[in-house]
Amino acid sequence: MRITVKQQVLMAPATVLLLLILLLGFMQYTYWNLSKIRQQSKAIGTTFVALAEADMVARRLQVIIRTFQYTGIASPEDMALVADLYDRLLAAIDRIEPFGPLKTSNDLEKLRSLADKINPSDCQDPEQTAELFARFRARLSNLSNTTQIHRNKLRHLHTQDINLLIARTVQVTIVVIGLAILLGLFLATYFSRRILGRIQQLSDNAGRIAAGDLELPPAPEQIRDELDTLAVSINRMTTRLIQVVGTEKLLEGAEEERRRIAMDLHDQTLSDLSTVLRGLQTLGTKAPDQETSHSITTLEQDLSRAITNLRDIMENLHPQTLDILGLGAAIEAHLDRHCCTDGLPEYHLYIDPRVSALNLNRVQQLTLYRIVIEAIQNVLKHAEATRYEVNLELREQLLVMSVEDNGKGIDQGVYDGNGRGLNNIRERARAIGAKVEWNGSRFSSGTRFELTLPTS
Ligand SMILES: Nc1ncnc2c1ncn2[C@@H]1O[C@H](COP(=O)(O)OP(=O)(O)O)[C@@H](O)[C@H]1O
Ligand SMILES: [Mg+2]
Repeated sequence: MRITVKQQVLMAPATVLLLLILLLGFMQYTYWNLSKIRQQSKAIGTTFVALAEADMVARRLQVIIRTFQYTGIASPEDMALVADLYDRLLAAIDRIEPFGPLKTSNDLEKLRSLADKINPSDCQDPEQTAELFARFRARLSNLSNTTQIHRNKLRHLHTQDINLLIARTVQVTIVVIGLAILLGLFLATYFSRRILGRIQQLSDNAGRIAAGDLELPPAPEQIRDELDTLAVSINRMTTRLIQVVGTEKLLEGAEEERRRIAMDLHDQTLSDLSTVLRGLQTLGTKAPDQETSHSITTLEQDLSRAITNLRDIMENLHPQTLDILGLGAAIEAHLDRHCCTDGLPEYHLYIDPRVSALNLNRVQQLTLYRIVIEAIQNVLKHAEATRYEVNLELREQLLVMSVEDNGKGIDQGVYDGNGRGLNNIRERARAIGAKVEWNGSRFSSGTRFELTLPTS
């Protein structure tokens, strides 16, 4: 199972947090332990006070009962006082909280049964009463001594326990915090190295591809985390790039082929036809009669027209003006030759003089030329415009080539569709890294085709 990048990033802080929570739990336990000891000492304190009070009340009660027994006089107030004192005595005994040795021994029960026996309403015989009180108070004093001893022992233990607890808490805290830091550092280093290693590999692949080495980087078989997604994206991008570069090469090859055909036509067919024309012209001068001379002149005219058509085809196949005079002149020559006929919409051409200073390579020039010719053809074929403008200008670092007409406008469905000419424009533009778009024109109606090409 692979841990996702998010989990790997969170692993170190989560571990540190977990250890700190454990430490907090331990401290809570220590505090609970301390409060238990404190409660125990509180119980002993209460018992101690209750015993002292019981002893004091018993002493007073004994004196008063003895006085009654010897004088034989007891006023109702005195009786009420005796009853009250006896109640206080019982209440004090009830407040005794059994602790340590008292819990197991039956000393407390014995004390209670003695307390029952010294009930003033039962005490008739002075001697027996004196003996019961003596036993009761001896037991009280006994218990008091036991409590005192236990209290001292507990106090001592308590101090020891607190010292021990503090030492243990400090130790555990140091160990846990140290462990948290070490573990946090180890996990952070381990996972960051793993992530950085994979990022470095992806970055190397991307750099290699950017430098032109179009070997497909390995794609993970399964997407398990975000970096795998990135690796797959880089792989797909490279596949796409290979396709684009392939198209570019194909276009380049096609242009080269057109150039070769144009050259062949020029060097072979055109020169052959020119030779035939010259032969016809010579034959015309030697024509035996008027009719033959007329036929030869007609043939000459047909052949001249064929030669002109062939020159047009050659120019279309590979515009020589482009090679010799550059992009601006080639566009101008095309418009002059094909777009000045009557009935065609009026055009306006603007070419920024700075464009000629641009170092456009042959493929770029040819591509731009083919694109603009198709855009102009579209205006003539589809726009039903009366006017259009062809502009080639520089805007900061961008070469902007536009063809804008005042025709009927381009239909959105058609624009999004698969028109062969429009698709060719898109493909060609992509091959040289240019962007193309068709929008509404600045005229009241019509289309503006615009191509932008970064020049730097
Ligand atoms: N300037 C324009 N004005 C109006 N419609 C246009 C323009 N340019 C292209 N279109 C529309 O886009 C469609 C596709 O153009 P395109 O792909 O060049 O095909 P086509 O081979 O017919 O020229 C055309 O049929 C036309 O309807
Ligand atoms: Mg077209």
